[in-house]
Amino acid sequence: MTVSSRPIAVVTGASSGIGEQYARRYAREGFDLVLVARSENVLQSLANELAAAHGVHVEVHAADLADAGAVTVLVDKLTKELPRLDHLVNCAGVAPNGDLANANESALRQMIDLNITALTLLTRAAIIRMRASGTGTVVNVASAAGYQPMPHMAAYAASKSYVLMFTEAMYEENRRHGLRILAVSPGDTATPMSANPEKARKPEQVVDTTWRAMSKSAPAVVDGAANSILTTLVTRALPKRLGLRIAERMFRDMA
Ligand SMILES: NC(=O)c1ccc[n+]([C@@H]2O[C@H](COP(=O)([O-])OP(=O)(O)OC[C@H]3O[C@@H](n4cnc5c(N)ncnc54)[C@H](OP(=O)(O)O)[C@@H]3O)[C@@H](O)[C@H]2O)c1
Repeated sequence: MTVSSRPIAVVTGASSGIGEQYARRYAREGFDLVLVARSENVLQSLANELAAAHGVHVEVHAADLADAGAVTVLVDKLTKELPRLDHLVNCAGVAPNGDLANANESALRQMIDLNITALTLLTRAAIIRMRASGTGTVVNVASAAGYQPMPHMAAYAASKSYVLMFTEAMYEENRRHGLRILAVSPGDTATPMSANPEKARKPEQVVDTTWRAMSKSAPAVVDGAANSILTTLVTRALPKRLGLRIAERMFRDMA
């Protein structure tokens, strides 16, 4: 990464959907960027576009973050190689939904490696680097599905519960070190991951919600009023068994 006076943001999952919109927003806000995902060509054309439009440096880091060795390489970049690290957005994620009995074993393993292991190790690396400079922001993308157990998407929803709980704990652990750690939970959002893109919220809205939340003090934010009401309802009002039955009915066709 070429040294400049601009802050640096690293965005994982930047080749598509919500992560791509984070990349666009950071470039607009005048950050230099490191874009991470597997699709190198897609990242490179986004990097060229953002560098030309906003006059920022944009580096492409192609990596399969379900691979332990590739995570170590990125950890080293965050802790040692970048001239500075101001923001990390852990947005890369996959959602192999359906009943656990029908799920592909290696897809499940990759999901856990990406959604949980890579996110944890990259957060750790960023926090080590940011504590040393006394400032920095980590945004971890969880999900509204992480707020309660979800039949027919059990492992994915549980991986996002992990992201939520882990990130909220990181928020408190790092507050006195001057760091801002935030969990962002989108509901259904119009990306290739969505089953109902025409009814879903837009990825740009998730990014706007993140931007507003970064300047406030809450450890977590849910994107969209309806999603926010729903997550409050399931965590504070609905009896657990009723919540499970409603969710099972809602997602039965994914079985
Ligand atoms: N869309 C929704 O309705 C929704 C709702 C709640 C939460 N979320 C969360 O939002 C985040 C972004 O999802 P999205 O909706 O924007 O989906 P998306 O458009 O499918 O984007 C997923 C991103 O993750 C990257 N990725 C996938 N596997 C990877 C791997 N092994 N290594 C590195 N990068 C990998 C993909 O890039 P490559 O394929 O190029 O590697 C892509 O950039 C995810 O964490 C997801 O769980 C989404």
